[in-house]
Amino acid sequence: MSQFNAMTTPDRLQGLVTQVRPHLRNVIGVTIGKGGEGKTTTGVNLSFMLAQEQEYRASQGLPAKPILYAELDSNGNSRMDLKIHGGQFDDDGEAFLGAVTEDKPFTVLRNVRPYLDMTIPGSANGRLNAEISRLATKHVQAPYLMLAMLLAQISHLYAWIVIDFSPGDESAQRLGLAAATHLVAPVKNADDASIGGLATVANLVSEVRLINPELGIVAIGFLGFRKVAGEATSELEVVRAKIEVLLEQAGLSPEVVMKDHIRESRNLATACRNNGMPARELALAANEMLMDTETGEPVPRPRYANGRLVEPDRAFELAEDWATFTRDVITRVASRNAELQGVVS
Ligand SMILES: Nc1ncnc2c1ncn2[C@@H]1O[C@H](COP(=O)(O)OP(=O)(O)OP(=O)(O)O)[C@@H](O)[C@H]1O
Ligand SMILES: [Mg+2]
Repeated sequence: MSQFNAMTTPDRLQGLVTQVRPHLRNVIGVTIGKGGEGKTTTGVNLSFMLAQEQEYRASQGLPAKPILYAELDSNGNSRMDLKIHGGQFDDDGEAFLGAVTEDKPFTVLRNVRPYLDMTIPGSANGRLNAEISRLATKHVQAPYLMLAMLLAQISHLYAWIVIDFSPGDESAQRLGLAAATHLVAPVKNADDASIGGLATVANLVSEVRLINPELGIVAIGFLGFRKVAGEATSELEVVRAKIEVLLEQAGLSPEVVMKDHIRESRNLATACRNNGMPARELALAANEMLMDTETGEPVPRPRYANGRLVEPDRAFELAEDWATFTRDVITRVASRNAELQGVVS
């Protein structure tokens, strides 16, 4: 752990932060201070849509780079969402833990989909918290920068890096907060606990100022709320209004609240996870437009948990919501990056 010793003084810590920050402007964190709000669904779909865009760019002869998706949570549900759970590369998070806490090589699973790489999460991530806390007792803030330093070294290889982390493990969450530049917070439930979860994120952003002065919430997105004739219902409007009050109290702009939202579709969301397909992939498969890379034939049409075939039109509607969501997030991130670059130069 010799690298920590050189970093413990406040000046050195600040030097390190200043050095890594410009290399992390393509890092988007998906988090909220409460479990089960759709972080992994959001992280996976955002990453997949961004990867599809890069694949398209490459097909047009334009420059393209892959996306890296990293889930820090110990449930490692993204392994299900991207169909690598229990497969030959699933090490239950061991390699990732070793890279972050013990200087072991940082490995990623390449091409989990075209233009999409991922780190493998799993139960080992549950030990991140204890390991980082232990290091932090000796080296104060420096250990929280471990992920930031790892990502800063490889960020030039990626168009975007998306990290998904939860509030449960405070130290692990700090790793994510130190590494990301832009935060997206998903809200799935209409209750006050979800809104409280958002307040937690807002507080954390100011708490981590020392190790990440550039962190900011770019978007608060909603998923799992009904759409009637393409529009939000009063249920979502009530939640939006409460969030706007909270933002005002925290001195944040209500502009971060996204206008559009991901429609309620529990059975499709379950089908995505059970079939190991992001929403757009599920839609393509449901329309027999997703080819098996080995046989060149369409993959079998996916089914809901009850055995019925996924309806192609409904699957495309959900995929379209994620496309709109992704465009909106990237527009916000790009304009924030322009501001950040302006401040530096
Ligand atoms: N559009 C949707 N409509 C309804 N339910 C949805 C929708 N999208 C996702 N869900 C459901 O929301 C639940 C939580 O999603 P997810 O696992 O992404 O949350 P999370 O914040 O990562 O949870 P955890 O804190 O456990 O890691 C899942 O059961 C998922 O099926
Ligand atoms: Mg999750």
